[in-house]
Amino acid sequence: QVAAASGHTVVLVDQSDEILKKSTKGIEESLKRVTKKKFADKPEAGAEFIEKTLKNITTSTDAVAVVHSTDLVIEAIVENQEIKNELFKRLDKFAPEHTIFASNTSSLQITQLANSTTRQDRFGGLHFFNPVPMMKLVEVIKTPMTSQKTFESLVDFSKAVGKSPVSCKDTPGFIVNRLLVPYMMEAVRLFERGDASKEDIDVAMKLGAGYPMGPFELLDYVGLDTSKYIIDGWHSLEPNNPLFAPSPLLNKLVEEKKLGKKTGEGFYKYK
Ligand code: 3HC
Repeated sequence: QVAAASGHTVVLVDQSDEILKKSTKGIEESLKRVTKKKFADKPEAGAEFIEKTLKNITTSTDAVAVVHSTDLVIEAIVENQEIKNELFKRLDKFAPEHTIFASNTSSLQITQLANSTTRQDRFGGLHFFNPVPMMKLVEVIKTPMTSQKTFESLVDFSKAVGKSPVSCKDTPGFIVNRLLVPYMMEAVRLFERGDASKEDIDVAMKLGAGYPMGPFELLDYVGLDTSKYIIDGWHSLEPNNPLFAPSPLLNKLVEEKKLGKKTGEGFYKYK
């Protein structure tokens, strides 16, 4: 959406037409929200902006079939190293020589993903934040193998889509998640110990620390499955780090398929 809105031609790829339909609808709704503010006094210009943006997006269920026409691939599939590696390995065979591969991974090592391809110098991290149309930040990750040219292209692309890039080495969680995920897990542990209710913890962090969402609201927003993937991955890397300890409550909710806003229930219930 943000790439298309800034004039880039985008092919959105997902597993089924049904998912793509849902995604396109989500983009349309989000564009309406963005437009309402941006073109408050000019509804016609707003409608034109939406139409132009949507025209820049086509969809496909076959990444291999469309990758030949891309300059940049941004992967944002399930947070699983093997599945991501498998996808990159396949795309590497069919993508043009110059094409840069980037992963939007929240927690996996970019270096390991790059190693599944033959283009380690044209591979980096491009980490966006939910909700992407609103959050201005992008973390641009350079591995020891990423070329300076690739890094600069990723920084330029981030700016071209209207974001503010920051850079970070290829370390677990980069900047934001390395701070944010342990904080959210500490909130869950506070609640698990019975020290405070989740509602009070959320109110406390909003009114006492100025956060726009409390940790439980944010966990539900990000997705409990995603949060669990992140913490489990780090726990396996550093089993003795108490900040990365898994939470029985988070595990239970994920097992019950209560994944947050997207499934209608997580720590809270949604209509
Ligand atoms: N698309 C377009 N516009 C959106 C939107 C979306 N998906 N979501 C919200 N907005 C717009 C609304 O339309 C509204 O616009 P307006 O000011 O013109 O009315 C504006 O954002 C504010 O929205 P709301 O009034 O509904 O609610 P809030 O004021 O609470 O803002 C929020 C919503 C921007 C999501 C804010 O709560 C927020 O900043 N929350 C924290 C988000 C955060 O921390 N994200 C990072 C998560 S970590 C991550 O993503 C990393 C990953 O790897 C796990």
